[in-house]
Amino acid sequence: MDFEHYDEQSRTVKQPLYDYYAQKAKAHTDITDGYCLDVGSNGGYFGLALAKITNLHMTFFDIADEALQKAQKNIVEDGLQQRATTLLGDVHAIPLEDETMDIVISRGSIPFWEDPALALKEIYRVLKKGGKTFVGGGKGTPEIKEQIEENMRARGQEIDREAMNKMHGDGMKRDYDALLKSVGIYDYVIHRGQDGIWIQMYR
Ligand SMILES: C[S@@+](CC[C@H](N)C(=O)[O-])C[C@H]1O[C@@H](n2cnc3c(N)ncnc32)[C@H](O)[C@@H]1O
Repeated sequence: MDFEHYDEQSRTVKQPLYDYYAQKAKAHTDITDGYCLDVGSNGGYFGLALAKITNLHMTFFDIADEALQKAQKNIVEDGLQQRATTLLGDVHAIPLEDETMDIVISRGSIPFWEDPALALKEIYRVLKKGGKTFVGGGKGTPEIKEQIEENMRARGQEIDREAMNKMHGDGMKRDYDALLKSVGIYDYVIHRGQDGIWIQMYR
């Protein structure tokens, strides 16, 4: 992955998409205080957008050190050093104690997980009682998607449709009901719409 390019795009043309999902995560979970884990955060775009509209303390968690270097830069740029930290590791073995997070969010990372059932079980393990998730993938509403593509064309930038489809299209096509039940998680809602697939687990 070209972290530099992804960071530049995410901090500019793609920002409306993160703002949209942050609003949606806030509305669906109604959790605005406590601790939030952003899984597969890359440079922290989703979590930073959520931090700006809540009082949440963010942990940006990614398997790639380069991603977390971008997250650290963006935390400082956004003035959120007092409420944000980074954590290196694999979602299949999250290096956190049980029941430590009030909310776990993630966007566009699931298609990269080798064993999504195990990963979802790990996410559930670190949720506090009463905690919720907003984990999934999507390209925003059709209007946001169109706006981003228009802005990218105006900047002479290529739209990597293959990568986008892997992250938010075919890559998300799994039987999440079966996956969740296979690891003993029954308290959840899956939102499927034009803006993607989002799994809300309740603990
Ligand atoms: C396409 S990026 C999505 C980044 C960001 N959440 C967003 O919405 O723009 C996927 C991220 O998932 C991370 N990732 C992939 N496999 C992972 C794993 N097993 N554990 C933690 N992070 C992982 C990658 O390093 C990458 O930063």
